[in-house]
Amino acid sequence: MASRPFAAIDSVVTWLDEKFHLNGKTVCDLGCGPGLYTERYAQLGALVCGLDFSTNSIEYAKLSAVEKDLSVSYAVANYLTDPLPQDQDLVTMIYCDLCPLSPAQRQILLGKVRASLNHDGLFALQ
Ligand SMILES: C[S@@+](CC[C@H](N)C(=O)[O-])C[C@H]1O[C@@H](n2cnc3c(N)ncnc32)[C@H](O)[C@@H]1O
Repeated sequence: MASRPFAAIDSVVTWLDEKFHLNGKTVCDLGCGPGLYTERYAQLGALVCGLDFSTNSIEYAKLSAVEKDLSVSYAVANYLTDPLPQDQDLVTMIYCDLCPLSPAQRQILLGKVRASLNHDGLFALQ
């Protein structure tokens, strides 16, 4: 319920892959939920980590990745207060999650994302 239909997810991931060529890239998905995007990034050859502050979601995502034999690193973390992984080629934040943040929270988040990105890394919001 807190994500888009699979067809929409597939279309977003296809667009991201066309734009950013995910194979071999380091990609971090903020607020990854149950891993609907992270798994697709991994299937396209990205080196993926997913962060979410929901323990249930991360436990589900970890199990799902094992069942599908996908290599995805997951962590329970609050992207506003916890350290983000470094040296990322791409950071994604999907499902309008920037919108409910206050201006101060947005500034914190954008600073943290910037610090987590490689020199030519990109932040994709969708
Ligand atoms: C609307 S859901 C979208 C999930 C996923 N991006 C998707 O589209 O399938 C938002 C997710 O962000 C997580 N989230 C919200 N605020 C967060 C925060 N400050 N730190 C980490 N995760 C957060 C929630 O637990 C939830 O899984």
